[in-house]
Amino acid sequence: MVRTVVVVGIPGVGKTTVLNIAVNELLSKGYVVKVINFGDYMLQELTQRGLVRSRDEIRLLPLKIQREVQEMVAKRIRYEIDSECKLRSESIFFIDTHAVVKTSTGYWSGLPRHVIEHLMPDIVVVIEASVDEILNRQIRDKSRERSDYGDPKLLSDLLIMNRMFAISSATLVGVPVYILYNREGSVREAALELVDVVINRLRV
Ligand code: AP5
Repeated sequence: MVRTVVVVGIPGVGKTTVLNIAVNELLSKGYVVKVINFGDYMLQELTQRGLVRSRDEIRLLPLKIQREVQEMVAKRIRYEIDSECKLRSESIFFIDTHAVVKTSTGYWSGLPRHVIEHLMPDIVVVIEASVDEILNRQIRDKSRERSDYGDPKLLSDLLIMNRMFAISSATLVGVPVYILYNREGSVREAALELVDVVINRLRV
């Protein structure tokens, strides 16, 4: 059985960290698992075009370019999932991405119809943490430049927008939304809850 799980969360909430632990857990149980990071594909395409040097510059590009590359990436991911499914009929795909992106012209869907209908997930998982937890993680994570996401009021708004956009996208394809809390110091618990949702609770 193939399961496709879209995982979203605002920058610095801990998506990638939770996913890494969940994947190791699933691999140790014998599952075939792959994480596809939407941002990596966006970065690769935009770097090749000479438009960005880092992932934190992507959201600052003109929306027309982001939209064009967003759709291209969604098609590419669909193609890769389909190709892998031809080789193996039992796999879990996690797509690490965003329900909402803050651009200079407002909040913008990371999973509009032209994306979510290509990804066709079985579930959308929204990873959340408190504003203080996210701010502290951003401060500790020196490898990234998230200064435009460093305002508590903005993060609070973004958490709400993230849920609303995630629900809208899931509604387009008729799949459930699961809210997963990644509490401070409890990343393993969050990862194990994700594993439980994917292998025990998700009926596809
Ligand atoms: P992406 O690669 O997803 O970057 P991001 O949004 O900045 O997300 P991060 O990976 O930095 O944060 P994270 O939540 O994974 O946190 P992490 O695990 O590192 O996307 C890049 C860009 O691509 C986007 O900005 C956007 O422009 C574009 N993009 C992507 N999808 C798109 C789409 N669909 N449409 C259009 N554009 C799209 O954790 C952060 C820190 O917290 C780490 O130091 C970690 O150790 C720590 N931490 C995590 N959990 C805990 C915990 N429980 N307790 C204590 N510390 C913790």
